[in-house]
Amino acid sequence: MRAHIVTYGCQMNEYDTHLVQSQLVSFGADIVDSVDVADFVLLNTCAIRGKPVEKVRSLLGDLRKIKARRPLVIGMMGCLAQLEEGQQMARKFGVDILLGPGSLLDIGKALESNERFWGLAFRDELHDHVPPAPAGQLQAHLTIMRGCDHHCTYCIVPTTRGPQVSRHPDDILRELDLQLAAGVQEVTLLGQNVNAYGVDQGARLGGYPTFANLLRMVGRSGVRRVKFTTSHPMNFTEDVAAAMADTPAICEYVHLPVQSGSNRVLRRMAREYTREQYLAHVADIKKHLPHVVLATDIIVGFPGETEDDFAQTLSLYDEVGYDSAYMFAYSARPGTPSYKHFDDLPREVKTERLERLIAKQKDWSARKNAAKVGTTQEVLIRGEAHSDGFLEGHTRGNHPTIVPAAIGATGPGVYRVRIDHATPHMMYGTVLGPDGHPLPQVPRLDPQAAALSAPSAWPDGRSGMNTPSENLENSSRPSQVRPAQ
Ligand code: 5AD
Ligand code: SF4
Repeated sequence: MRAHIVTYGCQMNEYDTHLVQSQLVSFGADIVDSVDVADFVLLNTCAIRGKPVEKVRSLLGDLRKIKARRPLVIGMMGCLAQLEEGQQMARKFGVDILLGPGSLLDIGKALESNERFWGLAFRDELHDHVPPAPAGQLQAHLTIMRGCDHHCTYCIVPTTRGPQVSRHPDDILRELDLQLAAGVQEVTLLGQNVNAYGVDQGARLGGYPTFANLLRMVGRSGVRRVKFTTSHPMNFTEDVAAAMADTPAICEYVHLPVQSGSNRVLRRMAREYTREQYLAHVADIKKHLPHVVLATDIIVGFPGETEDDFAQTLSLYDEVGYDSAYMFAYSARPGTPSYKHFDDLPREVKTERLERLIAKQKDWSARKNAAKVGTTQEVLIRGEAHSDGFLEGHTRGNHPTIVPAAIGATGPGVYRVRIDHATPHMMYGTVLGPDGHPLPQVPRLDPQAAALSAPSAWPDGRSGMNTPSENLENSSRPSQVRPAQ
């Protein structure tokens, strides 16, 4: 069997794709990178906003046409698969295998079945399952919990991923051990709300460490860098900031979604904290980590959001001074309380506010990134950038970074990089050797490419290096290594 998986959505989905892919490989499947040569195409879907749902609908339409011409098994997994909306689509487009986020390990049974197979249960064995480490990669995700016990009124995730279940620390550590043995240098702990680790359905689980102590355990394992995403402010404890400060491997990067700066909107979103409580968490974080890199998620145009409410979001942005933000226009999702009870604002209002917020984010990111020029950052280089002769990676603070390849730094690795130039969404630097001096650059045969490697020639908009590519109407996120949910 030749299988091709298309992944939409967040890092949890990327992790699940890896999990299912490793199952498929263990059944003897070849993983191929194009629909054209696949006889099984599996869509790992996202349902958080209307846009990713429409992308799935359109791809399913294409797949149905291909299936009319040749044998093809179509599969659908992930959040949309769990919803009636997705199941209707599956019926319409002839999906053969449908697996909700709790039924991923049914993939083998599904492929053996000669009939249409739909798995929608939340199965316990998923939490004990330890997938193999991703081969040949310096970065890995590690799921520490699934599901969510919050009920934000705009959010479909508690419906699609079910209630929170924390993985046993032994399973987490076994998975970490495999990743370390495979050469992983950066581990990102994943969950819808990692700060609530070990506190399922409100009760602390016996034998489970707090999230802060889990961070310390992982941070002391020998792994070079530890990150985590994402955090609900309501469950953020000062001890997490303290753990970050006392454990060198934990990167000084915090993603703390605020969603709105207005208490009235936060209440209607059922976020369970006020603006003041959020700012107190930020103050705790800055106290323990004066050089922290802060990122957030913000929804603009939530139903009933007034101009004054929005002005409070803008003022909160200034008060915190975020390094980056993932910004979204509210998208009414069937099945959520806000869809049922509130009227959507006009599209133009949402779009206009999103544009104003993006302008603020760009301004802050430009200032924050400019302040890094001249500093030395630890950059994990993933591999070649889009432009020939350049490598791409990211800092401990998740800044996407581009460097010219240098002698001794021509491929993946963790390097010291001097930042020479910065834009709101990208940093450009030079790899330093052990003595702190720049490594010699790889000689270029093409004089034009050589000219490009000079910092003065680094434009902001070179193809593939720049950012908010997503449709303004729905979201805008800096091109970063991320995302939550
Ligand atoms: N509309 C717009 N943005 C949403 N998010 C979640 N649900 C919605 C929605 N209905 C955003 C939140 C969350 C991020 C992952 O997606 O900001 O933190
Ligand atoms: Fe859970 Fe995040 Fe949605 Fe809140 S926004 S309900 S924490 S998934």
